[in-house]
Amino acid sequence: MDHIELNIRDDVLPTMTKGSQSADTRLTATENRTRLTASTSRTSGAEPASHGCAPSHDAPPASNTVVELKNIHKTYLLGVEGVPALRGVSLTVAKGEWVAVYGTSGGGKTSLLNIIGTIDKPTKGELSICGTAIDANTTDDTLAALRLHKLGFVFQAFNLLSSMTARENVELPMTLQGLHSAAQRRDLATRALNRVGLGHRLDHFPAQLSGGEQQRVTIARALANQPEILLADEPTGDLDSANTDRVMDLLYRLNAEQKMTVIMVTHDPALKHFCSRVVYMRDGRVARQETVDPAARAPRARRTRRQG
Ligand SMILES: Nc1ncnc2c1ncn2[C@@H]1O[C@H](COP(=O)(O)OP(=O)(O)OP(=O)(O)O)[C@@H](O)[C@H]1O
Ligand SMILES: [Mg+2]
Repeated sequence: MDHIELNIRDDVLPTMTKGSQSADTRLTATENRTRLTASTSRTSGAEPASHGCAPSHDAPPASNTVVELKNIHKTYLLGVEGVPALRGVSLTVAKGEWVAVYGTSGGGKTSLLNIIGTIDKPTKGELSICGTAIDANTTDDTLAALRLHKLGFVFQAFNLLSSMTARENVELPMTLQGLHSAAQRRDLATRALNRVGLGHRLDHFPAQLSGGEQQRVTIARALANQPEILLADEPTGDLDSANTDRVMDLLYRLNAEQKMTVIMVTHDPALKHFCSRVVYMRDGRVARQETVDPAARAPRARRTRRQG
């Protein structure tokens, strides 16, 4: 396996957002640019703490809980019909946890991630992300600040701009915010792409990349700002086993060493042992949860998988 660079310097890493794309559709370049622009605009009065998952606003007391959902419902309106995607999900995630979300297709996994990522609003229920309570009155500025400073999002659809190279795609959120000099942005994007093993594909356009490589570009884009919570919707769905290992290795270290909280939707049962907890969803509900034995967690899980 190629070397994975993990020396992430706090002082040079950017703050950026992952945009507010729908995870369900592959967006056109224009749509994608519009959404990225909308969600990366800097906001006033909502600056985050520089470390920990401290709340962005008038803070409730410090807590180890970074995600709290109480009785969350989500019903999509399709014509005159309501499609119930989430039917009363309650879930608490502590800082530094790595939660894997498994479940049947259509079970509500992406809907759940979109609500945690504040790119969709619940129909009913209570939600708090990094100490910020979110309800119908929460302003767009507050949500944008959360996405900008706290959340990283790897979408089920890639959402890369086809007219930009891999490096430009990773740079884009920083560019839209006017963060850093052009040389710094280039350096940061290059580092992020190196971390996912794409240092040799910096100047390739999405159409010149395999599906798995495109997926790794989106992972680099999500990690470039060192999010406190990484929300990943099947991040290895298009990767072969070597690249799945590479990405899992990187996430494992970020989780173990930097306490980055990870909430990851996956269908791959082999990934369970990278995680600390598994949540199974069915028909819009949490069907059951399972704690992973710390002694069985990666890197032992990886070795076992390779041998098996
Ligand atoms: N925008 C939408 N409008 C209407 N219905 C939707 C919308 N998005 C999702 N749904 C429906 O909500 C339910 C849950 O969808 P969701 O995408 O959350 O499932 P999922 O668990 O992520 O599935 P998969 O494993 O196939 O990705 C499904 O029945 C789906 O058809
Ligand atoms: Mg999904």
